[in-house]
Amino acid sequence: MNPLRPLILAAAESPRMKRALTNIPVTADIVRRFVAGETRDDLIRVARTLLDSGRLVSVDFLGENTTDRSQADATVVEYLSLINELAALERPALPGIDAPPVEVSVKLSALGQALPGDGPAIATENLRILCTKAVQADVWVTVDAEDHTTTDATLATVHELREEFPWLGAVLQSYLRRTAADCRALSGPGSRIRLCKGAYREPHDVAFQRASEVTDSYLHCLEVLMRGDGYPMVASHDPAAIAAAERLVAETGRGPNCFEHQLLYGIRDGEQRRLAAAGNAVRVYVPYGSQWYGYLTRRLAERPANLAFFLRALVGD
Ligand code: FDA
Repeated sequence: MNPLRPLILAAAESPRMKRALTNIPVTADIVRRFVAGETRDDLIRVARTLLDSGRLVSVDFLGENTTDRSQADATVVEYLSLINELAALERPALPGIDAPPVEVSVKLSALGQALPGDGPAIATENLRILCTKAVQADVWVTVDAEDHTTTDATLATVHELREEFPWLGAVLQSYLRRTAADCRALSGPGSRIRLCKGAYREPHDVAFQRASEVTDSYLHCLEVLMRGDGYPMVASHDPAAIAAAERLVAETGRGPNCFEHQLLYGIRDGEQRRLAAAGNAVRVYVPYGSQWYGYLTRRLAERPANLAFFLRALVGD
C-alpha cells in the first residue's frame, strides 16, 4: 500500500484541509478526472458515452456519513430520479451479456445508517425503497463498503433485503482480515459480491497494512469467489488481479454472464476498453454530485502520482 496513504487520508479529515482543497480552482481539473460532474445531466452524458462504447455502468450519487434525516431522505429522492433517467437510456445489445447494463451503487451511510438511534433500520428501509424502484427499471443495486465499523451492519442489511431482492449486491474489501471468511460465507448461488482492496484508513488489528498482504488477500478471496457459485465482480485495476481473474475464468469455465470486471471512471480507460473488446462484461463505476471530497481524497491517497499532479497544478508548474 502506498506509504503516504494513511497520512493523506488523516490530513483529508481536517476541516481546514477540506476548505482549502474545495476552494482552489485547480481542484476542478482533478475532480473532473474521477467524477462525471456535479449534476445528473453531467452523469447521464458520461453514462451514455460509456454504454455506447460497450461498457456497463454503476452510478454512485456522492455523499456519505449523513447525520441529518432530511439529507438521507433527499438522497433517496435523488436515487429514484437517477434510476428513472438511467432506465430511459438506450442500452446497446452486448453479445453474450445478459446483466443489466445499468446499476446504482449506494453507501448506507448516505441513506441514514449513521443517524443516532435507529440509523441502520432507517438505512435498510431507504434501501428497500431504492430496490423496489430498481426492480421495476431493470437496474441492479450494489451496496458499497465503508470503514470497518460499518461492515457488520451493512452485511446485515444486505442479508435482510436479499430475501426480497436476491440480486442485491455487496462489496467486500480484501484489506480486512475478516474478508476471506466473508467471501466463503457469501460465495453461494445468486450471491453478487464486488471484491475490492479497500480505500479507508484502518487499524492494524482489523486490516492488512502492506500492499503485498492486501494483494495476496485479494487473490485468495478472488479464488474463493470464482470457485464458488455466485457472481463475482472483480473490482480492481491491478494487472495481477485482472490476470488472476482471467486464469480463474479459464479454469472454472465461467462465461461473460458469470462474472464482471469493474473499474473506476477515469482509471485505466485503455484497459477497460481492452477487457470489453475481449467480450467481457466490464462495468465502470461512475460517481457524480457535489459531495465529491471524500471520494476524491481516497483516489489521491491511492496513488502518489495523483497528488503530485495536483500539487504541480497548484504551484503552476
Ligand atoms: P492498486 O491500488 O494496487 O492499483 C493498481 C493500479 O491501478 C495502479 O498501479 C494504477 O495503475 C491504477 N490505479 C489504482 N488506483 C488509482 C488511482 N486512484 N488513480 C490512478 N490510477 C490508479 N473501496 C472501498 O473501500 N469500498 C468500496 O465500496 C469500493 N468500491 C469500488 C468499486 C469499484 C468498481 C472499484 C474498481 C473500486 C472500489 N473501491 C472501493 C476502491 C478500491 O478499494 C481500491 O482502493 C482501488 O480500486 C485501488 O485498488 P486496485 O485494486 O485498483 O489496486
